[in-house]
Amino acid sequence: MDTLVSLRGLSKSFAGVQALDKVSFELRASEVHALMGENGAGKSTLMKVLAGIHARDAGEIEIEGRAVDVASPRDAQALGIGIVHQELNLMRHLSAAQNIFIGREPRRGLGLFLDEERLNADARRLFARLNLDLDPRTLVADLTVARQQMVEIAKALSFDSKVLIMDEPTAALNAQEVADLFRVVRQLREEGVGIVYISHRMDELRQIADRVTVMRDGRTIATVAMADTDVAAIIHMMVGRALEENLRGAPPDTARNEVALEVRKLRRGAAIRDVSFSVRKGEILGFAGLMGAGRTEVARAVFGADAIDGGEIRVHGRAVRIRTPQDAVANGIGYLSEDRKQFGLATAMDVQANIAMTSMSRLLRLGMFIDQAAIARTADGYVRQLGIRTPSVAQPVKLLSGGNQQKVVIAKWLLRDCDILFFDEPTRGIDVGAKAEIHKLIDALAAQGKAIVVISSELPEILRLSHRVLVMCEGRVTGEQDARDATQESIMRLATRCASSATH
Ligand SMILES: Nc1ncnc2c1ncn2[C@@H]1O[C@H](COP(=O)(O)OP(=O)(O)OP(=O)(O)O)[C@@H](O)[C@H]1O
Ligand SMILES: [Mg+2]
Repeated sequence: MDTLVSLRGLSKSFAGVQALDKVSFELRASEVHALMGENGAGKSTLMKVLAGIHARDAGEIEIEGRAVDVASPRDAQALGIGIVHQELNLMRHLSAAQNIFIGREPRRGLGLFLDEERLNADARRLFARLNLDLDPRTLVADLTVARQQMVEIAKALSFDSKVLIMDEPTAALNAQEVADLFRVVRQLREEGVGIVYISHRMDELRQIADRVTVMRDGRTIATVAMADTDVAAIIHMMVGRALEENLRGAPPDTARNEVALEVRKLRRGAAIRDVSFSVRKGEILGFAGLMGAGRTEVARAVFGADAIDGGEIRVHGRAVRIRTPQDAVANGIGYLSEDRKQFGLATAMDVQANIAMTSMSRLLRLGMFIDQAAIARTADGYVRQLGIRTPSVAQPVKLLSGGNQQKVVIAKWLLRDCDILFFDEPTRGIDVGAKAEIHKLIDALAAQGKAIVVISSELPEILRLSHRVLVMCEGRVTGEQDARDATQESIMRLATRCASSATH
């Protein structure tokens, strides 16, 4: 079997953090090699070293048996290494095609003019290969997170890569999009490409991985063939112990609790069509549906992030006017966004500032002085409670691993003390151990009397958390189920029962 990439004894440390400690890793042609490990284990760092983004402190990199020095992303591209990053990195004001070919756009007229036609035709060809129906001229700002991810994949493929690194490519994709992506991945494998696949979704391993390498604390624990192992064994290697079964008991009876939030006939263009629902204190309402069903739109509208065309919002029985997120927060409504880069975090600032930022007034001593020690203490408490992996609360958030950034967003909202909380994809990109912790935390918040809405594209998560499930399709509510009656099948039926397709 041809070895494409061989990494030996790679080490990398950042100020105060040994991210990689003598890691070895090997990738063959025509294989999908999954890289697994908890948040902060070193997966992204290892792949960034291979992709020329980080310089290694020690160790060797061989490509097809030849020792190489990958000193820059350009070097990596020339060596046929393409990477799709965990965080989206597209320019929002440029088109999809311009993003793909940025810095190497086809030109005409002696190179004086951009050849728009060829640019778009080239992009169209890449999209066809990905089975993606998308006009290359569309601005990235107008694309859903899922489609932006697909553009990133098209970009990585555009370098004729023989090594393709995908860092959590499916985190934002729905079941259909994942199936499409897997078809492309298998096709590339067929063509001889070696694929490094990073994911926290255990159920994907069986479907796509040929081999698995598990990392923990910056070291490689083992590399095994998928055929010789199972998910339980992999989790054990990841966390160093077996995970206790984390099931919810019977949902509490909240039928007589006060209605905390009631939304009546909410409308916003084609995205939200007469959506009504209510959540009681202590209740967890699950919002299920396929990507694009309108769940995030509803949350954003209630939170005042988008203007509405009509409808009524009542908080604790009182009609309220919410025009901005500030209005929402003033009414005790919090929204943990699915896109942490856009809404959730000031990534250049440190952990404590991000956690405390919006709750400053409560942390002011004598109303005047910022009590730095109190902020640090509070932040430190959340770091411990949520198991945020950071050398200190003074670490800039952008230096944390993806999953740990997500936990900082959660800490920030917990501190704000809202009593109505929308969690939008709360465990996307979060490792199995931390995910169980966050589930317990959401249970606990409900038990304290908070009214909670959880939006999730993972049906097991919806079933695990919800007391009641609301299903949406194409901007409408297509059904509601008591958690005791809901199954993956019943939810999927409702999720695909849109007005346009319900012909009976
Ligand atoms: N640029 C950086 N500066 C400082 N520390 C960093 C930097 N990049 C990563 N780290 C640290 O290195 C460790 C490994 O991070 P890495 O991003 O590789 O984890 P990961 O396995 O990809 O985790 P996740 O599943 O959360 O994405 C973490 O402790 C992280 O905080
Ligand atoms: Mg990562």
